[in-house]
Amino acid sequence: MPAVVTSTTPTLRGVGLTKTYGDGSARRAALKAVSIDLRPGELALLMGPSGSGKSTLLAVLSGLLEPDSGQVLAEDEGELRDVWAMTGKQREDYRLRTTGFVFQGYNLFPALTARQQLEIVLKWGGYAGGSEARRRADEMLDKLGLAPNRHKKPAYLSGGEKQRVAIGRALVKDPSFVFADEPTSALDWENGQRVMELLRDAAHDRRASILVVSHDHRLMPYVDAYYHLEDGHLEERGRG
Ligand SMILES: Nc1ncnc2c1ncn2[C@@H]1O[C@H](COP(=O)(O)OP(=O)(O)OP(=O)(O)O)[C@@H](O)[C@H]1O
Ligand SMILES: [Mg+2]
Repeated sequence: MPAVVTSTTPTLRGVGLTKTYGDGSARRAALKAVSIDLRPGELALLMGPSGSGKSTLLAVLSGLLEPDSGQVLAEDEGELRDVWAMTGKQREDYRLRTTGFVFQGYNLFPALTARQQLEIVLKWGGYAGGSEARRRADEMLDKLGLAPNRHKKPAYLSGGEKQRVAIGRALVKDPSFVFADEPTSALDWENGQRVMELLRDAAHDRRASILVVSHDHRLMPYVDAYYHLEDGHLEERGRG
């Protein structure tokens, strides 16, 4: 793993997070008192077997899925805020301003072109509108090798192109926190490397805190920290 200068103060901290799905005999603990610190300028990798709770942890940390217990503390506008103590409206506003999320299933808007998918998050987050939003959207699509696909809606994009649009949508607003659930799963190695370089730049150059879920060991050279989740328990396995 490459050496990188990072601040020791975490910008996002999960403390004692638990999450159980189902009732009665179907009850299943996906997270069992998981704690994790995400630091500014750091790209962290989360690995673990299928069904071990990786997507659940990403959803809880990003403010999408409420934990049964535990806290998610995030630095926002200079103060540490408890994400799950916010009202729904405050959390939605916080997420739009601070967080980029790449869903395992992409979750693109079917009616919007690639360019519009990126423009809309810049507008919603209050970052940019009009020609400035278009310029930033096109610049990000270029970096992802998607310039020729700008005007296509998801139904006309390949799986790997959709995945790259989803990554562009998460990164275009330069968020403080990025959560990416298997962001390279549909990509050939060349495009996978391109995506990892963009994620690494977002961390190292723009001081974002990034957590990537993947099964791909080839991503290891790109990351600063590495976690393993198994049976709801998290372990830190390495730090650059
Ligand atoms: N909405 C849900 N209702 C009930 N059980 C769920 C729900 N979502 C996830 N689970 C269960 O919780 C466990 C953890 O799921 P999760 O999706 O977090 O795993 P994962 O590590 O992301 O797996 P994968 O690598 O296959 O994506 C699994 O056993 C899953 O079946
Ligand atoms: Mg998953």
